[in-house]
Amino acid sequence: MAQIIDGRKISAQIKDEVKEQVAALRRQGREVALAVIQVGQDPASTVYVGNKKKACEYVGIRSLSYELPQETTQDELLALIDGLNERADVNGILVQLPLPGQIDESAVIGRISPLKDVDGFHPANVGALCIGRPGFVSCTPAGIIQLLKRSGVEIEGKECLVIGRSNIVGKPMALLLLRENGTVTVAHSRTRNLKEIASRADILVAAVGRPRMITADYVKEGAVVIDVGIHRNEGGKLCGDVDFDSVSPRCSAITPVPGGVGPMTIAMLMKNCVESVALQDAGSLRG
Ligand code: GUN
Repeated sequence: MAQIIDGRKISAQIKDEVKEQVAALRRQGREVALAVIQVGQDPASTVYVGNKKKACEYVGIRSLSYELPQETTQDELLALIDGLNERADVNGILVQLPLPGQIDESAVIGRISPLKDVDGFHPANVGALCIGRPGFVSCTPAGIIQLLKRSGVEIEGKECLVIGRSNIVGKPMALLLLRENGTVTVAHSRTRNLKEIASRADILVAAVGRPRMITADYVKEGAVVIDVGIHRNEGGKLCGDVDFDSVSPRCSAITPVPGGVGPMTIAMLMKNCVESVALQDAGSLRG
């Protein structure tokens, strides 16, 4: 029977480690603060933002909340970011995505100081990851590396397949697995023979965005399967990109949905916030 990789347990461990680090910084007279910006009232975003603020409270990070109206202009948002970039008492800046149509997301991401970009979305941080320099790494893929390492899964030399090539998950995931000396393939919607490619993978990361698409016939016996998807099925129950019931008997380890990758994103955001203090002390991404 497959090992179930418990994201709730591992994310709780990470949050407790961050809590200790925040307390140690406080003993040196330093506070850690995260500015969280939400534009409009998308219900899913409101839930995510609320969970981020709760996590801040748990680990002892001060959160500054900016709830802006749906009709906020791009210039207004950029002006807020400029102000937060300048403030020495703000370590991290997070703009919840998606943004309303009148605002260009890449202009907004590009305006956040790379030293405060705790989401790891700024091109300077993506570039730093690509060439192995210090910087912030996107939270979901960084969390997946923690799930693998803390579950005793070796990455070095393994055939790793990432299905999905988004800027937030697929691409940084591939770079992180490469950094860990995996042999990495990236598959996507135009990939031919996906089943054949997938059935060679020792570590399979599914970030496809299609409910239960990855069935047992995609998975090699003994593979480790990481499911990034989160969907509601016909009955209203949560499910992932992986058909857990058919896949789990074939693999050596698997993340469930819910309770796998999901809880890791916020834990890694907290970890990035605490690490931002050292990056800001260094004063640049050059390390
Ligand atoms: N929207 C969905 N996921 C994320 C995330 O990780 N960060 C931000 N800022 N917005 C999101």
